[in-house]
Amino acid sequence: MTTTVRTQVAIVGAGPAGLVLSHLLAEAGIASVIIDQRSREDIEQTIRAGILEQGTVDLLATIPGSRVHTAGARHDGIELRFDGAGHRIDFPDLTGRAVWLYPQHEALKDLLAARIGAGQDLRFGVTATGVEDADGDRPRVIAVDDAGAGLEIEADFVVGADGSRSVVRKAISGSHGGLFREYPFAWFGILCEAGPSADELIYSNSPDGFALISQRSETVQRMYFQCAPDLDADSMSEAQIWDALQRRVPGTTLVEGPIFQRDVLRFRSFVAKELRHGRLAIVGDAAHTVPPTGAKGMNLAVADVLLLARALEALLVRSDAGLLDGFADAARDRIWKAQHFSWWMTSMLHVAPDASDFDRERQLGELRSVVESEAGRTYLAEGYTGWPFA
Ligand code: PHB
Repeated sequence: MTTTVRTQVAIVGAGPAGLVLSHLLAEAGIASVIIDQRSREDIEQTIRAGILEQGTVDLLATIPGSRVHTAGARHDGIELRFDGAGHRIDFPDLTGRAVWLYPQHEALKDLLAARIGAGQDLRFGVTATGVEDADGDRPRVIAVDDAGAGLEIEADFVVGADGSRSVVRKAISGSHGGLFREYPFAWFGILCEAGPSADELIYSNSPDGFALISQRSETVQRMYFQCAPDLDADSMSEAQIWDALQRRVPGTTLVEGPIFQRDVLRFRSFVAKELRHGRLAIVGDAAHTVPPTGAKGMNLAVADVLLLARALEALLVRSDAGLLDGFADAARDRIWKAQHFSWWMTSMLHVAPDASDFDRERQLGELRSVVESEAGRTYLAEGYTGWPFA
């Protein structure tokens, strides 16, 4: 049994990109259907990074019911720590902008509630398997639900917001091709029950490698340290984890507490070769992934979606394909800036396993040249708080 539904825009993926897109489309009077292979509970529990750029926050705050300003915490700076000393980067001073610490799953709860409240056609447990008529005017998403029933969504436009293993990307580029680079390290991430060790995020470079001290609330903290990509997260005792973290943030005595979640996060940099083909486009992690050091992932997804929403409004409301023709180049412009920023923060702060003494001294020279110069600090602050949306 296969059911066919017709809509204007079929969106594969109910993550931040898909949900924000459906909101913006609805505001423009454009109907959409969203499918996601996960359940609502799974989506709301996915632990992801938590830093939102000023522009992302401004957009989320316009969505009814958003708690970003009440449950999120404004952060006016971060600390870069190296060579035993901390150096604060003051965002408002340098750029007039700030960031918010608001975990992605909290933003997702808001977005899901808002879209469901608005009557959005949103189907969980439905897995896209392919796209038919990818070259035509009415492409179709082929999908199957958890009970094995088929679903076809026929639309004027198909958007893949379906993450790094995107099915829609395959329909666009014919393969999973793109430009990428791997890193010889990963992050060991923990959530623990403890009070905050610092008011702001600490990005620390130490001879033992990188660590990031982040927060979640007054009673829950998120911390990461650089580890080997093939490390088994269960291979370390809590004492070993605390020792690894403490050694990487000399100068701060971390507040320790029970660790209730741990994971090894591998990452890479990736940009898909094609972002759009005819009436198909990809956004967010389907189009690109960045290492987490620059905290750009969700922000870049929102930036893609803003561009695509405007292009789709022009196409579907005013029959003007001009913006859509420029979509991929406009998106790529920011994507590569964010790729560079994420790579730069990563390479500046981590210690590669094969780093020579020269590499290490050069890295410390780079860090000093950033923090000692207002131009250097401003460059970092502009990237971190996010370049203004076009
Ligand atoms: C987080 O709090 O999970 C977090 C914050 C900043 C990053 C990455 C992750 O760069």
